[in-house]
Amino acid sequence: MKTHNKPLVIANWKMNLIKNDAIELISKISKLDDISVDVVICPPDLLIETIKTHTSITLGAQNCSAQAEDFGAYTGETSAHMLKNIGCEYVIIGHSERRKHHLEDNNSISAKIANAHKVGLVAILCVGENLTERQSGISHDIVLEQLSVLPKTSTKKNTIIAYEPIWAIGTGKSASLTEINLMHKYISVLFENRFKLVYGGSVKQENAKDIISLEQVDGLLVGAASLDFEQFYKIIK
Ligand code: PGA
Repeated sequence: MKTHNKPLVIANWKMNLIKNDAIELISKISKLDDISVDVVICPPDLLIETIKTHTSITLGAQNCSAQAEDFGAYTGETSAHMLKNIGCEYVIIGHSERRKHHLEDNNSISAKIANAHKVGLVAILCVGENLTERQSGISHDIVLEQLSVLPKTSTKKNTIIAYEPIWAIGTGKSASLTEINLMHKYISVLFENRFKLVYGGSVKQENAKDIISLEQVDGLLVGAASLDFEQFYKIIK
């Protein structure tokens, strides 16, 4: 069941855009006055402060440190506290690309969510099965296991769940409406409708409206299509 009337569209820019291109894109998005959804933009960390000076749109990060401390000798890390301090309100956690390329596991993902909650960031926990798991009929078990990391601090206000089947991310082939609805329903029943549920994986202008209209979907997590102004505009208007 939808938990919120106004859909939420989260843009995950991933490791894309240099400063001037990012400013150009955010400036165009910020000028729009016919947006029908709540928007959160998640730029690379390096660009967050710059973007902030060009928009009043809500910003998020794509990751935060799992270390319990706000500061310390952790080369290359950025703490949730630092993100909050520069104006972030959301943080994506446990994206499949981070699980794959940075070997994130349940322990670190759980710690990151707790860190986000501690400083008042909304954690967007990404879950989703790979193609083999889907074909083996164990998608629900995989997602259940990934959801088991949610710390006790998780509430409707500080946590969003993003269902992102790995086989649909960046492939151009989104999950079908039935597949999305079924998984969202499963998660929603599991948590008694406690969390907002967004879908991600090859969302584009052609499928966004249909997905967002689904009974079980509260919003979208958009990767590639969020980097193209025309595409993104059609998704959020
Ligand atoms: P995509 O990425 O829209 O490019 O498939 C979605 C995501 O990884 O969040």
